[in-house]
Amino acid sequence: MKNILVIGAAGQIGSELTPELRKRYGHTRVVAGIHKTIPPRELFESGPVEIIDVTDKEQLVPVIRKYKIDTIYNLAALLSVVGEANPLEAWRVGMNGLLNVLEVSREYRCAVFTPSSIGAFGLSTPLDNTPQDTIQRPQTMYGITKVAGELLSDYYFKRFGVDTRSVRYPGIISNVTPPGGGTTDYAVEIFYAAVKEKRFTCPLHPKTYLDMMYMPDALEAAVQLMEVDPSRLKHRNAFNVTAMSFCPEMIAAEIRRHIPDFEIHYQIDPIKQSIAESWPNKMDDSCAREEWDWDPKYDLPKVTEDMLRVIKKKVKGGE
Ligand code: SER
Repeated sequence: MKNILVIGAAGQIGSELTPELRKRYGHTRVVAGIHKTIPPRELFESGPVEIIDVTDKEQLVPVIRKYKIDTIYNLAALLSVVGEANPLEAWRVGMNGLLNVLEVSREYRCAVFTPSSIGAFGLSTPLDNTPQDTIQRPQTMYGITKVAGELLSDYYFKRFGVDTRSVRYPGIISNVTPPGGGTTDYAVEIFYAAVKEKRFTCPLHPKTYLDMMYMPDALEAAVQLMEVDPSRLKHRNAFNVTAMSFCPEMIAAEIRRHIPDFEIHYQIDPIKQSIAESWPNKMDDSCAREEWDWDPKYDLPKVTEDMLRVIKKKVKGGE
């Protein structure tokens, strides 16, 4: 039976992964580790919550011991755009945090999931059908922490036998907690703008392609990878995973099928644009499909339909 700690439980992924894990493994067995962000009320009501600063190892140890934790989902990180505004903090949270998680996991025999990202690639990577194993020379501090994190996680597996596993998430589209300062955030913001104002000002060029995924598939990826028989894994840190690839023009056209008078305008943000151009247009995720049966359910039409349905309900309810 698993005893799980989610670090970063109040963030975009954590606020949905924690309830999902509680549903699957039992509410009292999944501890929500929060830091500065105030979590949704349900997180407190549905199971244990602990305040943890991942950059301080002394705060991790008592929680691991108290709940006999054997699996850690380490989600604490700064996204790409905020990471560029504060590169040292991005390093401190991403790397010092990960090192602490890996060290306690070595000592207490925990399995570790730490998301990597499309940000782990850069301009010298083949950006179409980006292979699983390829050149990784990212230009952002976010990407540098992701590549270093992949290497460190593989090192702890090979050297110390820590069961580390990871995926390279694309942009994640969701409607519970907003993403905090990423390059792919436009693909979330566009839905809120479409429902509220029927109009969106896009920071990326109309033809900038990026990989994307809806949150239910992102949660499934994390849980499925952590559950798979390790003898099947040829790779560990980290698997390419994608569910769709689109550009702003395409998502706008899809939204117009539901809201015909929706308008998109472009005001290019040079930082976001240059980051987006250094990331894959579309990753090849065949290794994830072969090694642990990755099989996403949501494509662009399905995400659009569901996002608009949920956001319309939220807006009507005054959220
Ligand atoms: N969503 C992230 C970002 O845009 C990429 O993994 O920073």
